[in-house]
Amino acid sequence: MDVFEAIRKRRSIRKYLDKDVPDELIKKILDAARWAPSAKNSQPWEFIIVKDKEKIKKFAEIKKQEWIKTAPVLIFVVANPRVHKIYHAIDCARATQNACLAAFALGLGTCIINCYELSEVKKMLNIPDDLILVEAFSLGWPAESPTKSRKPLEDIVYEEEYGKKWIK
Ligand SMILES: Cc1cc2nc3c(=O)[nH]c(=O)nc-3n(C[C@H](O)[C@H](O)[C@H](O)COP(=O)(O)O)c2cc1C
Repeated sequence: MDVFEAIRKRRSIRKYLDKDVPDELIKKILDAARWAPSAKNSQPWEFIIVKDKEKIKKFAEIKKQEWIKTAPVLIFVVANPRVHKIYHAIDCARATQNACLAAFALGLGTCIINCYELSEVKKMLNIPDDLILVEAFSLGWPAESPTKSRKPLEDIVYEEEYGKKWIK
């Protein structure tokens, strides 16, 4: 799939088919994630794949988001702040975005789920205290086709200085 098509058509999926995601596809997606750029190539990311139904249910309850229970896979993104003090979490977000686009290109759906440093989740997943739980994303075969738009370029792009519109 063309990169522009993937960027343009990917939408967050919050309803999944009851169908497994093969490990081979998960591997492709996380491989795409690890090729994200990072400050000084610090690669602060690590990933925890969760398929255990009980853990998925518990996470959905912690987040109070029922739809999460339909996801066959959750992937938690963990940052090591020692490798880059400032950019560790931002770089993890870049890796997550790569993963979401790669998943879309494979016909899979994702939804990023905010769980920044949630202690209950860190405990459930045995994440050491000195690492940062950045976010999670759900992964599965889509059972919905949502549409969502964006602000027009005219409203967000300036030239030379803030506020001077590039597109009039
Ligand atoms: C950091 C972050 C946290 C998010 N957390 C949640 C969440 O907890 N639950 C949820 O349903 N969607 C969550 N989303 C998805 C956004 O709501 C979604 O990306 C946004 O509405 C744009 O929709 P689209 O991804 O379909 O284009 C999150 C997205 C990001 C980037």
